[in-house]
Amino acid sequence: MSETYYKNKSILITGGAQGIGLGMAEAFARAKATVVITDQDEEAGQEALERLRAQDLQAVFIPCDVAQEAQVQNLLEKVGEKYPQLDVLINNAGISDPFQGALDELQLADFDRMLAVNLRGPLLCARYALPLLRKAAHPAILNITSTRAFMSEPDTFAYTASKGGLEALTHALAVSLAADRIRVNALAPGWIETGPWQKESGRYEPNHTKEDKAQHPAGRVGIPGDIAAAALFLCSNQAGFITGQHLVIDGGMTVKMIYN
Ligand SMILES: NC(=O)c1ccc[n+]([C@@H]2O[C@H](COP(=O)([O-])OP(=O)(O)OC[C@H]3O[C@@H](n4cnc5c(N)ncnc54)[C@H](O)[C@@H]3O)[C@@H](O)[C@H]2O)c1
Repeated sequence: MSETYYKNKSILITGGAQGIGLGMAEAFARAKATVVITDQDEEAGQEALERLRAQDLQAVFIPCDVAQEAQVQNLLEKVGEKYPQLDVLINNAGISDPFQGALDELQLADFDRMLAVNLRGPLLCARYALPLLRKAAHPAILNITSTRAFMSEPDTFAYTASKGGLEALTHALAVSLAADRIRVNALAPGWIETGPWQKESGRYEPNHTKEDKAQHPAGRVGIPGDIAAAALFLCSNQAGFITGQHLVIDGGMTVKMIYN
């Protein structure tokens, strides 16, 4: 990818005000893309803009709850008023705490809300982004899933199902949008530390034990930059022959066999 590939390309990142989304917003802004951050947390959104500004980087913030169809429609209308096309949509917003209690205690409303944000949200964003994506030269959608789509800890029903669904939605979209030249891929992160990428009131310094690090063949827990580096590649035309795929980014955690 050339150093100027993302210049004049517009990128919409959902859940971009904190965590992995913010890390990707910083990386795309550094690559000279026109970054639009959307998030349901307006305070975090404003702080994200300040954080970017402090690094001499630019972005625009538009608030939106991706689970609400009318809000998503409104978001993409606003993006369309500002930019002639949308080059990249990154569906990153998610309820990221996977634990919702044991099966007999699980509140169905919580289960439904997680699916509405983590699975229906990406579908809605893709649908309303479609007219703008069609206008781009090399449009791409990237869905942020999770290694939990492929393996589980106990009591993570909704999160695991939502991410498994998003993996499947990725290939369904890739095949369905091929005629529009839109490539659709997924990144499946493992354990990514986001403490320093939270808004001030929720920010914390990471404190990983020797064991935390040792369960990763890479020898450490991940950071948002690890996901951003792959996102920059997958959303560029250098990845033009890659669609309907997922890339696991977990420092090798899920291929490590454990006998004790
Ligand atoms: N951090 C990890 O270890 C990890 C691992 C695997 C997958 N993921 C996935 O990566 C994505 C980002 O996770 P993170 O760890 O950075 O989380 P985070 O909580 O740090 O950030 C998520 C952002 O999404 C926003 N958001 C939540 N619900 C929203 C909604 N309905 N509409 C709009 N914005 C909303 C939040 O306000 C927040 O700013 C999520 O999809 C998560 O499931 C994270």
